[in-house]
Amino acid sequence: KKDIAIAIDGPAAAGKSTVAKIVAKKLAYVYIDTGAMYRALTYKALHNELDLEDEESLVQLLLKTDISFDHSDDSQIVLLDGQDVTRDIRSQNVTSQVSIVAKHKKVREEMVNRQKKLAQNRRVVMDGRDIGTHVIPDAEVKVFLIATVEERAMRRHKENIDKGFPSDIEQLKKEIEKRDQLDSEREASPLVKAWDAIEIDTTSLSIEQVAEKIFLLASEI
Ligand code: C5P
Repeated sequence: KKDIAIAIDGPAAAGKSTVAKIVAKKLAYVYIDTGAMYRALTYKALHNELDLEDEESLVQLLLKTDISFDHSDDSQIVLLDGQDVTRDIRSQNVTSQVSIVAKHKKVREEMVNRQKKLAQNRRVVMDGRDIGTHVIPDAEVKVFLIATVEERAMRRHKENIDKGFPSDIEQLKKEIEKRDQLDSEREASPLVKAWDAIEIDTTSLSIEQVAEKIFLLASEI
C-alpha cells in the first residue's frame, strides 16, 4: 500500500485533532498537530513577555526554540525545549492570543518549513489551517472540516469539562468566532479550503463517522 499524507484543515474546534488521531492510529501513521506548534511558541513568547505584535522578536525566539512531539504512548505529548507543555498550551491565555502570533508571515515561513520536513516521508496525518494549501499542497488526501459555531462550542465545552478545565459556552462561542475571523482574514496563508480539498460538514456526524469517511478516502488512493 502506498504511503500517503493526509491533510486536515478547518476552523477552530471542528474536531480536526480528534479525528486526525483516530485516522492516524488506524493507518499506523504519525499524527502531527501543527496548532500545537503555534501554541507552544505563543506560550514561550508570553513567558518571555514579548510583544506579540513584534514579528522580528518572535522569529528570533522561534529560531532558538525546539518544538517536538513524543508519540511513544497513545496520547501525544508536546515538548517545548524538551519540557512537557501539552496541558499549558491549551490555557485560555494561550488560546486567546495564538492567532496574533500565527498571523506573522516570517513566523509562518519557519513553522511551515519545519512542518514540511515532518511530512516529507509521508505516513502522516497533519491538521491545521494551511496544511492543504501551503504545508503539503500535494497531499494525497485533503479534507476541510466544518461545523456550525454552536456545535463547535458545545464540543469544546464537553472537552473542557472532561479535562477538568473551567468552561463557559457563550465565552467559547465568542472565542471561536474571534479566532476564526483572525485566522481567515490574515494575509499570510489564511484559513481557506484548498481548491481540491473535500469539505465535510461534521455538524450532525459522530467522530467515528467523520474518521470513517477520511479513512475511506485514504483507502481509495
Ligand atoms: O489547531 P489549534 O486550534 O490548536 O490552532 C491554534 C491556532 O494556531 C489557530 O487558531 C491558528 O491561529 C494557528 N494555526 C495556524 N496554522 C496552522 C495551525 C494553527 O495558523 N496550521
